[in-house]
Amino acid sequence: MKALVTGALGLVGSEAVRYYLNNACEVIGVDNDMRKHFFGEDASVAKNKIDHGNYRHFGVDISKIEGLFENEKPDVIIHAAAQPSHDYSAQNPLLDFGINAYSTLMLLEMARKHTPAAVFIYLSTNKVYGDRPNEFDFQEFDTRYSIPRQSKAVTASTLGFNESLSIDFTTHSPFGVSKLAGDLYAQEYARYFGLKTGIFRCGCITGARHAGAELHGFLSYMVKCKKENKLYTVYGYKGKQVRDQLHASDLVRAIDCFVRNPKPGEVYNMGGGRQCNVSILEAFDMLKMKKWEYVGTPRKGDHKWYISDTKKFENDFPEWKRRYTLYSIFGDLMG
Ligand SMILES: NC(=O)c1ccc[n+]([C@@H]2O[C@H](COP(=O)([O-])OP(=O)(O)OC[C@H]3O[C@@H](n4cnc5c(N)ncnc54)[C@H](O)[C@@H]3O)[C@@H](O)[C@H]2O)c1
Repeated sequence: MKALVTGALGLVGSEAVRYYLNNACEVIGVDNDMRKHFFGEDASVAKNKIDHGNYRHFGVDISKIEGLFENEKPDVIIHAAAQPSHDYSAQNPLLDFGINAYSTLMLLEMARKHTPAAVFIYLSTNKVYGDRPNEFDFQEFDTRYSIPRQSKAVTASTLGFNESLSIDFTTHSPFGVSKLAGDLYAQEYARYFGLKTGIFRCGCITGARHAGAELHGFLSYMVKCKKENKLYTVYGYKGKQVRDQLHASDLVRAIDCFVRNPKPGEVYNMGGGRQCNVSILEAFDMLKMKKWEYVGTPRKGDHKWYISDTKKFENDFPEWKRRYTLYSIFGDLMG
């Protein structure tokens, strides 16, 4: 099998590269270290490049790879390259659109033209739901917000948010909109053109290879601040905002379940779920973090509480189980 991974040096892409190499596949990676361009030298992903007999790397922009599709005709495309930050997208909406929306459409079109039987995975985000999750009633506890177990909220099951959450009439940020465009195009290329696309709407994904930056990758960045004794800034919600956490290797194993048994055009919420989530205050406690400051205003559109309901995926792929717990994720990040 031949896999093409975009964003091959990033958190998810680098995990996918290693996973498919370990499974005796030929892997082609594309990544031009745009993450350094977005977030600075500290966020460079160059260190994640791997030397392996079955791996070829192309340090080019994802909009310039038609030749790869034409010559290589990959069986699997894992599209993990993206501009990943809300705040960056607000400053650079055109660049954000070009990468997340336009280039995704180009890649789908390249797949349709040159390798239409391939499985195409699109890494989407829970930000496609905008700030809709903030409309629910949350209970406030000492260290976190929580959604009542008996919540009458029709789209929030007791497990978290499922795929029926509306995407309309909410604040997404330009990033949320450009990712949603890619998400809808990936769905449409299955429905309209018959491509085997799979869409994973992720909560927080993390792991040791995440090049955490203040604008993206909160847990990885917090651990970096702890290790380097740098000040960490909390924006709003008293630090009680909750996120589920999924290790990138668990995500890639989920992706591979889909690759082996594709359900074209399906959309799955994907994350750590009820068993693996943490608030900022709780993460501080686990890390014994002393050096932090609080800014009262939350980031625009930031979720107060988000836990993914992954039941739909687990029903379709019962063989998938998370291997990482919150504690082993912290262990991996601390190194
Ligand atoms: N990490 C998370 O918490 C999270 C959550 C939800 C969704 N996602 C999605 O998962 C995917 C992977 O995220 P990640 O955490 O691995 O991000 P990442 O920033 O670690 O990796 C993305 C990679 O894409 C590369 N890239 C960006 N633009 C490029 C371009 N034009 N040409 C070539 N390479 C380019 C970057 O250099 C980077 O290495 C993204 O689509 C992201 O939106 C991630």
